[in-house]
Amino acid sequence: MTEQEFIPNTYTYTLENGSFKWSSPSNIALVKYWGKKEDQIPENPSISFTLNDCKTITTLSFVKREVSDSFSFDVFLEGQRKDDFKPKIETFFKRIENYLPFLKAYHFTIETSNTFPHSSGIASSASGMSALALCLMSIENVLSDEIITDGFFIKKASFLARLGSGSACRSLEGALIVWGENKTIEESSDLFGVKFPFQVHPDFRNYQDTILLVDKGEKQVSSTVGHSLMHNHPFAQERFKQAHTNLSKLTEILQEGNLDEFVALVESEALTLHAMMMTSMPYFILMKPNTVEIINKIWSFRQETGSKVCFTLDAGANVHVLYPEKETDKVLKFIKNELVAYCQNGHYICDKIGNGAKQL
Ligand code: PMV
Repeated sequence: MTEQEFIPNTYTYTLENGSFKWSSPSNIALVKYWGKKEDQIPENPSISFTLNDCKTITTLSFVKREVSDSFSFDVFLEGQRKDDFKPKIETFFKRIENYLPFLKAYHFTIETSNTFPHSSGIASSASGMSALALCLMSIENVLSDEIITDGFFIKKASFLARLGSGSACRSLEGALIVWGENKTIEESSDLFGVKFPFQVHPDFRNYQDTILLVDKGEKQVSSTVGHSLMHNHPFAQERFKQAHTNLSKLTEILQEGNLDEFVALVESEALTLHAMMMTSMPYFILMKPNTVEIINKIWSFRQETGSKVCFTLDAGANVHVLYPEKETDKVLKFIKNELVAYCQNGHYICDKIGNGAKQL
């Protein structure tokens, strides 16, 4: 598909006002997206687990108004007006205006809340932007003269979410989503996320993700700055190639249920993401001492017990601890006994793989 196919034909504009409500989850990448071209086109393909419990719930209310040449909206987080969210949403609206020509014909009220604490260091951009994109698609669905199939609805919502925050395009469905054109997944696209099309081994069903909150502060490096560090990065081209290779390896691993290879690939991807940041100019260390303590503990535990528990990281200090469902009791005990001490205020969040967004 091309961008052109997401530009709608005429609307009838019969909708005076109304509201739509969606919940959309966060996701955790196994092969990481790091580096982008213009218009939020990824430099390399990525694949993620959709989460189940870390979600944003957004209500979008709208009232028709005189069309003007600016956008009109208010944003609330947990009931509090959030004017500092406005610039990001304004940029999002500008980017998607071509694809949703009704945006200037309404005043919007965006009311949003997260199931995870706002200051947890968990990025809410993936869940937030995907929830908003879905609400906007619900409006288009009513305004449009054309029949919008469920498949197109999700594809376009993912396409729009991508323009809000790249990784948001992987949050709409579950359980595994691929984004970025590659040879391994025929349907893959740079424009939107698609479901992993192969049967996944039962060991990967209901996979668990316990998120250890090592540093709950604001991100030290925004992802916009982070992605831009891949321009002129001395190792960028090799990294982009490696992501293709890793996606193709992981595609086999997920079908065969090879947990040892899964652990090695996922941890290597996480450390590579951080290595890219350490070797860029300017350079950053986004792990904290406790991140490294946790990683070492996980390695010892695995060696001592034969467990298949592993870690992955986002562009920050928090650690996602991934493990098969059948190891839940054992790993949770390990986390409580040995890892919680490294979490800020002892905080962690138990999550698992989920099935994506829902209209409420
Ligand atoms: O969606 P962004 O622009 O916030 O980028 C997210 C990048 C990582 O979380 C570090 C990796 C990924 O693939 O989600």
